Amino acid sequence: MNNSTYKDALKNEVFTYITKAATQLKLETYVIGGFVRDFLLQRNNKKDIDIVAVASGIELAKKVASLLPTKPKVQIFKTYGTAMLRYNDTEIEFVGARKESYSENSRNPNVESGSLKDDQNRRDFTINAMAFSLNEGNFGELLDPFNGISDLQNKSIRTPLNPDITYSDDPLRMLRAIRFASQLQFKIEIESLQSITKNAKRLEIITKERIVTELNKILLSPKPSIGLQLLFKTKLLHQILPELVALQGVEYEQGQGHKDNFYHTLEVVDNISENTDNLWLRWSALLHDIGKAPTKRFEKGNGWTFHGHEFVGSKMVYKIFKRLKMPLNEKMKYVQKIVLLSSRPIVIAQEVNDSAVRRLIFDAGEDLEDLLIHCEADITTKNKEKKKRYLNNFKLVREKVKEVEARDKIRNFQPPISGELIMKTFNLKPCREIGTIKEAIKNAILDGKIKNEYNACYDFMLKKGESLGLTTTNNSH
Ligand code: CTP
Repeated sequence: MNNSTYKDALKNEVFTYITKAATQLKLETYVIGGFVRDFLLQRNNKKDIDIVAVASGIELAKKVASLLPTKPKVQIFKTYGTAMLRYNDTEIEFVGARKESYSENSRNPNVESGSLKDDQNRRDFTINAMAFSLNEGNFGELLDPFNGISDLQNKSIRTPLNPDITYSDDPLRMLRAIRFASQLQFKIEIESLQSITKNAKRLEIITKERIVTELNKILLSPKPSIGLQLLFKTKLLHQILPELVALQGVEYEQGQGHKDNFYHTLEVVDNISENTDNLWLRWSALLHDIGKAPTKRFEKGNGWTFHGHEFVGSKMVYKIFKRLKMPLNEKMKYVQKIVLLSSRPIVIAQEVNDSAVRRLIFDAGEDLEDLLIHCEADITTKNKEKKKRYLNNFKLVREKVKEVEARDKIRNFQPPISGELIMKTFNLKPCREIGTIKEAIKNAILDGKIKNEYNACYDFMLKKGESLGLTTTNNSH
């Protein structure tokens, strides 16, 4: 047991109020969990604080609220015996110390009150079970029964109890272990890792929303491949994203192999994480090649092909988001778009020409810069010469994009001829020809055949209409 005192951690005035309330109520009170861990790791911007009171957390929360100058509202969650209040920008959660056991098939615990030690026993990891005393006699003392502080120093994730008990009490913790390993770049202790592998199937009782919260945190960590590889190794990934697992491995045919698209994907995700914190661009990197498993063929003479994998992949994005109960909104559409266009700049980079660049600008619209960031991350060749050449080609693409955009104002453009004008000109009711003419005008602009301006587009429309056998009305221009 470590008896050091950390009064410095408790400078936030809110602790003074909690201590005052606890003294008045004669409740033993501690700050516990993430706040203590992050303070000791010098990650000092934690905005949520967990308070544990021996006996009633709810009673303490009410007292604290009555003492605080802002008199905040207390939210009470009776079933869990917890209460929450906000003070300035901090969220404070109060819980009574408990002895807990979970039922086999749900995360809902049977709660029984207990001592601080009981409460620490039932927490997920030793690094999350440390507490600072808020009691007057030993204010700031670290209570660390499992030597979590040395696990912090050794960068180790370890459960306070036998890992089989800790993980089966709450299987979400298997993901949390991997998430902390990825966020903090810690190692999961071997018994724990074995236990996760053994209990992986228990993840099925966890809601998709909670799983995705952890997955997002893994993706947002500095080197997401640490977490993703652990998910794969423990077979949790097989349950969450089997489409990714299907990319693993190399097949040989007539002595020819293809790259391992799972490990390639992990590299792309790590690469992109050096250049963006945009969660959805990281998701795009994670899913950019998922269409490769279902489209993989070996063609004599051509070798391994993945025709149309971008299109198939973008359709799979929808299914994955739906299955994981992720938002089916513009974020999903963004991921679909990056996946769909993910090979386009690479093709263009082989031979940079105006027309292809114009189309790229049109199709990618405001997401073009993100798409290029993705494509640069997608270069994982170990051949230094090749890598340099590809990166250089992307520089050319970027320059060409600037040049074409300045000249043609193509991004988010609307051709200057509307469907109504086409109808009026040829005296048409709504019909297929209108779409055909509109599409032809758009393509002519993008291919550089006509300028993006009214007169050129109008003349082109007349010619196109004529070729479709349409006649103009007299008063059309
Ligand atoms: N906890 C647990 N088992 C869980 C979730 C949480 O034992 N499945 C405990 C841990 O002691 C944890 C504390 O509850 O430190 C608070 O949980 P939470 O706020 O979810 O995580 P933090 O540790 O605060 O970390 P972060 O803010 O990074 O999620």
